[in-house]
Formats: sequence, structure tokens, C-alpha cells
Amino acid sequence: MNTKRLDTTQLETAVALLLEGELVAFPTETVYGLGAIATSEEAVKKVYQAKGRPSDNPLIVHVSSLQQVKDSVVAFPEVAQALVDAFWPGPLTIILQAKEQYFAPSVSFGRPTVAFRMPQHPVALELIQKTGHALVGPSANQSGKPSPTSAQHVWDDMNGRIAAICDGGETAIGLESTVVDLTDKEGIRILRPGAITAEQLQNVVHQRILGGEEAIEAEEAPKAPGMKYRHYAPSMPVQLFYTKEELIRWVRQYQEAHMDVGVMATEDMLGALPNSVEVINMGSAGDIQSMSMHLFSGMREMEKRKVERLLVQACPKKGMGIAYMNRLEKAARGE
Ligand code: TXA
Ligand code: MG
Repeated sequence: MNTKRLDTTQLETAVALLLEGELVAFPTETVYGLGAIATSEEAVKKVYQAKGRPSDNPLIVHVSSLQQVKDSVVAFPEVAQALVDAFWPGPLTIILQAKEQYFAPSVSFGRPTVAFRMPQHPVALELIQKTGHALVGPSANQSGKPSPTSAQHVWDDMNGRIAAICDGGETAIGLESTVVDLTDKEGIRILRPGAITAEQLQNVVHQRILGGEEAIEAEEAPKAPGMKYRHYAPSMPVQLFYTKEELIRWVRQYQEAHMDVGVMATEDMLGALPNSVEVINMGSAGDIQSMSMHLFSGMREMEKRKVERLLVQACPKKGMGIAYMNRLEKAARGE
């Protein structure tokens, strides 16, 4: 298959391909998604194939209007309304009870629930609107690789496997959306931390927020099905560090073992490193937004530079730091 590279003036081509049941990658504000029409079983099956994704890991349905959600769910609770009023379009995915057989069976793989998101990116919204259908949109990477934050990353993973990629430049956030389950009677359960934090959620709802920092760190924490699979990991081992002293110690240790070392850190950490170290500057000290934006793209860049050990700066588990550390710790464990 010849994968077309489209710019944002060529969305008509992307729409036509989607309507023929083909796969088209598109930009969102979090990471690039792999689009297919969510009501077509044939198209959705191709998504699992192209990504090499385990078929029991359900997909997020991306919408451009709230009506698309309301048409497909059993009930649209008040809490859902409060959350979409506050955070849509944006990096929040909500899980609701879906009508039976509304979407293709492979979207949720037999679960009675469906995950929905309205992305905050003009290209994504226009594509969904012009296609006239909700689109599934898993991150457009090969399963097990870091999520793609540019059209080039999608190309590197998916060239020859999908019909087209819409290039909308680099994504702004760089980590996938916060996923919350609204079908849990005990409260709103965070299944995957993201840019929308537990505190932000708590500010707009009175229900309990479950699965904040404590639960996510606990081994038995309930997880989105996708969280149990290998994710986020580049091909080389990843070691995280907090302080400059730790960083320098690790660099010395690896270099004594004759390994090529890469370092991803904020600029305050980068002085006094040997010239032989490959470096990616993640931004100014304490800028968690900038660190998040550089995490996946930096890992991919370090793969290209063929480093043998990668050192990545950790941050406090507060606010968006919870999402950042969730991805980094998985990468460091090789998950
Ligand atoms: O930011 C994002 O959410 C990106 C962009 C492209 O929109 N998409 C994304 O999709 O990250 P994906 O497929 O890589 O991750 C979807 C996550 C998985 O962890 C999956 O297990 C969970 O959402 N999920 C989807 N449907 C679910 C359901 N019905 N119940 C529980 N978890 C669900
Ligand atoms: Mg993914």
C-alpha cells in the first residue's frame, strides 16, 4: 500500500479514503490518532491489524459533536454533561454505557461501554465533521512504540500499512488523553492519567474522584485494558533520575561500560556533561508541559541516534506530573 502524505488543504482526499473503509492518521492536540469509521467492523479490524494491537484492547471513539455521543449511549448522565462542558473539546476521554450494536463490535470488544473524546484540533474536528461519522482513533503508532507526536513519527511506524497521513504539525500536549470511567457507582474513576488532572476534574464535579495518584501507584489499581500492554517504550533501556548528582553518576557508570548514552532533561541539568553524550533539552526547569511534549518525541529521536542507554529526568507526581511519570515509569520498566 502506498501511504499518501496529505497537508491540511487535502482533507477531501482523507474523507474519501475513510468513506471507502481505509485508515487515515490525523493530528489531535494530544498525539496523532489512527482514524477509521467507528461503525464499520471491516475498517475497525484493519486498525488492530495495522497497529499490531491486541484485539481485546478497546478503542476511543472520536466525535465532533455532542449529538454523536448522545445518539449512541444508553444514558447521558449529568456528570458527563458537567465534564464535557468544562473540558471538551480537549484531552479528556469519558466512558459511558453504549447502545448495543451501535458501533462496530471490535470498538469495545464485547464490553457494554464505549470511550468517547472530542479532540481540540481543527484538523481532527473538520475531518470527523466532513466524514459525517464518528472515528475510532487509537494512537497511530505500532503497538508497543511511543505514541506519535508528528506526522513523521506516524510515517516511520505506519508507512505502507495505512492509506494516508494528514500532517497537522507537532501535537501540543504530547501525552494521550485522561481516560475516566463514568459507569462506576463509587465515583469517577481515572483509568489513565493525562493533561486533565484529578484536581481539575474535582473542581467541576461533586462525585469522588477515584484512581488519583495513590491508586495509580498501587499494583492492584484497576486499569484501562490498554494499560496492561507494552506501551511507551523505546528500543533501548530507559533509566530515570531526579537530581544532577544521580545523572552524573549514571552517565559515568554507562560510559565506563563503553555504552553510548543519551540524556533527556531540562536545561538546568545539562551543564557539565561530557561532549560524547547525546542530549535533548526538554525545556526550562520545572516546566512539566514542555517535558511532556518532549517525552515521546525525544525517545524516538534517541532511537534514531542509536544510543544504548537513555537517561530521562523524572518529576514530582503532582498535577500533570502524574501522567508524565506514568508514561516514563512504564518506559523504564520496559512495559
Ligand atoms: O489522546 C488520546 O486519547 C489519543 C488520541 C489519538 O486521541 N488516543 C489514544 O487511544 O490514546 P488508544 O487507543 O491508544 O488508548 C485508548 C485507551 C486504552 O488504554 C484503552 O484500554 C482505553 O482507552 N479504553 C478504550 N475504551 C475503553 C472502555 N470501553 N473501557 C475501558 N477502557 C477503555
Ligand atoms: Mg496508544
